[in-house]
Amino acid sequence: QQPADFQRDLLAWYHANRRQLPWREEPSLYRTVVSEFMLQQTQIKTALPYFHRWMEALPDFAALAAADEATVLKLWEGLGYYSRARNLQRLARAYVALPEPPTTPDAWRALPGIGPYTSAAITSIALGYPAACVDGNVVRILARLTADGTSYRDSATAAKAYTPLAESVLNRDEPGDHNQAMMELGATVCHRRSPLCTICPVRKHCAACAAGAPEEFPKLEPK
Ligand code: ADE
Repeated sequence: QQPADFQRDLLAWYHANRRQLPWREEPSLYRTVVSEFMLQQTQIKTALPYFHRWMEALPDFAALAAADEATVLKLWEGLGYYSRARNLQRLARAYVALPEPPTTPDAWRALPGIGPYTSAAITSIALGYPAACVDGNVVRILARLTADGTSYRDSATAAKAYTPLAESVLNRDEPGDHNQAMMELGATVCHRRSPLCTICPVRKHCAACAAGAPEEFPKLEPK
């Protein structure tokens, strides 16, 4: 199977099934950044009301840069991991001081609170930059597609190891939708336990499904 077939099957499914989310329906760079920070350690349904309140109070980078830290922390209250909120404000302050907006994942990674995943998410979704997002969900999907029996020490090591494969299957014409389709597939179909292979849009590309053993991948390091 060619990556093009995989990409087409994945995107067709995403376009038909994607959840309507405020940062998808009305996208902008700022909304993408805020949503990605909120979604780093928080589920979508928990993040949604926070996202709406945040956008009302702090609608753009300039408003966030100028806000009191107390206001920012109050808007974040309940989401936990407050370093995310502090980093988001530090990012806004750095961003408004830049002569021009950063456009590449490497340039974004120089800003506070941004790692490999978030830089790829922001640049692909908001700027159409062809960078693949790799988190635990994506590692699981790729390990199953290839029935890769390698075990990795921890999730960061696995994400790094799978990045070349993620890049090679990335749809470079629609990287933001491709990445969000992978996230959506991991969240709603390719579950860690009891994946829903019968409704999976890419099962014909999946070696683990063909072997009847999707749950065996990815391999976990023996403790
Ligand atoms: N998790 C992190 N970013 C996401 C996004 N853009 N859509 C859905 N889930 C996500």
